[in-house]
Amino acid sequence: MSVIQIGPYRLTGRALLAPMAGVTDLPFRRLCRRMGAALAAGEMISADPRLWDTRESRRRRDHSDEPEPRVVQIAGGDPVTMADAARRNADAGAQIIDINMGCPAKKVCNRDAGSALLKDESVVAGILQATVRAVDVPVTLKIRTGWDAASRNALAIARIAEDAGIQALAVHGRTRACRFEGDAEYATVAAVKQAVRIPVFANGDIDSPAKALRVLRETGADGVMIGRAAQGRPWIFREIAALLAGDATLQAPAASEVRDIMTAHLRDLYEFYGHEPGARIARKHIGWYCTGRPHAEAFRRSVMQVVSAEAQLAMVREFFDALAGTAAVAA
Ligand SMILES: Cc1cc2nc3c(=O)[nH]c(=O)nc-3n(C[C@H](O)[C@H](O)[C@H](O)COP(=O)(O)O)c2cc1C
Repeated sequence: MSVIQIGPYRLTGRALLAPMAGVTDLPFRRLCRRMGAALAAGEMISADPRLWDTRESRRRRDHSDEPEPRVVQIAGGDPVTMADAARRNADAGAQIIDINMGCPAKKVCNRDAGSALLKDESVVAGILQATVRAVDVPVTLKIRTGWDAASRNALAIARIAEDAGIQALAVHGRTRACRFEGDAEYATVAAVKQAVRIPVFANGDIDSPAKALRVLRETGADGVMIGRAAQGRPWIFREIAALLAGDATLQAPAASEVRDIMTAHLRDLYEFYGHEPGARIARKHIGWYCTGRPHAEAFRRSVMQVVSAEAQLAMVREFFDALAGTAAVAA
C-alpha cells in the first residue's frame, strides 16, 4: 500500500482520529497523535464567524503545539460563508480544511448544514468549489452515505467532491436517517473507493485493530477513521499501526502505562481548561479509561464526586497503581 498523501502532507499511518465535538479537544488530539493517529481534525466549528467569539469557540480553534498538519473542520450551508470561514481559518494557521457533511445533529441540520446538505447535490458542488477555490491549503470532506436509504448518493457526492478539487474523503457508513443506529455498512465505502482516485477513509463502528484490518481489506480504502473506539483507548492507533505492519503480538498497555498516559492526559486537560473546569471535563475520559476494569463502577462513582483536580489526579493514580500491583502479583 502506498503512503497516503493529502496535498503536501504525507501521512505517517492509516488510522485517523474522527472529529467529535466535546471529545476531540486539543489535549485529546495531541494525545492521539502521540499514540500514532495520522491525522486528528478539531471539533467542528460553525462557518459563521459571528459565533467564534466565545470562550468555547476560541478553545476549539486553539491548535497550539499540535503536530502538523493541523486540521480544522467547518460546517455551514452556503458557499460564500464556507469559503470565507476556510480562508479565515487557513490564515489563522489551519493546514487542512475539512468540511463536515456528515453531522446528523438537529442543531446543524436545521440550518441546512452537516448531513442535510447531502440532499442537494448542486448545493454540495457549490460549497465544495467555493471552499477549494478560497484557500491554498488542501480541503477534505467528511460525509455519510446519504440522507436516507432511498437516497444513498455517496457515490455521486464523491465524484462531485473529486471534480471540485477535494483532496481526501471520509465516509461514515450510515445515512443521516440512521443517526447512530444499526451497524455501519462498508459496501458503499468500497464503491466510493472504486469511483474516485483521491484517498478514501472508512468510518463507522471500527472498534479494534482486527476490524480496522478487515474494513481496509473489504473496502480497499486507504485508511480508517476511528471515533468512539479511541475514547479511553487512544493507544488503538499504535495497535492498528502494529497490526498493519504485520505485528499481531502487541498487547494492550499494562495498568502502569495506562496510569502514565492518563495522568499526562489529565494534566494537559487541567492546563488547557483551568484546574476545576478541566477536572469536570476529565470525568468522561476517566469513565472511558476505566470501562471494563476491575472495581471500575465503585471507583467511577467516587471519582465523579471529586471537584479538585489534585484530588482527582491522586485518585486516578491510586486506582491504577492498585491495578498495576494486582497485575504484578497475578503475574
Ligand atoms: C460525541 C460525538 C461527536 C461528534 N462530532 C462530530 C463532529 O464535530 N464532526 C463530524 O464530522 N463528526 C462528528 N461525529 C461523528 C464521528 O466523527 C464519526 O463519524 C462517528 O462517531 C462514527 O465513527 P465511530 O463509530 O468510529 O465513532 C461525532 C460523533 C460523536 C460520537
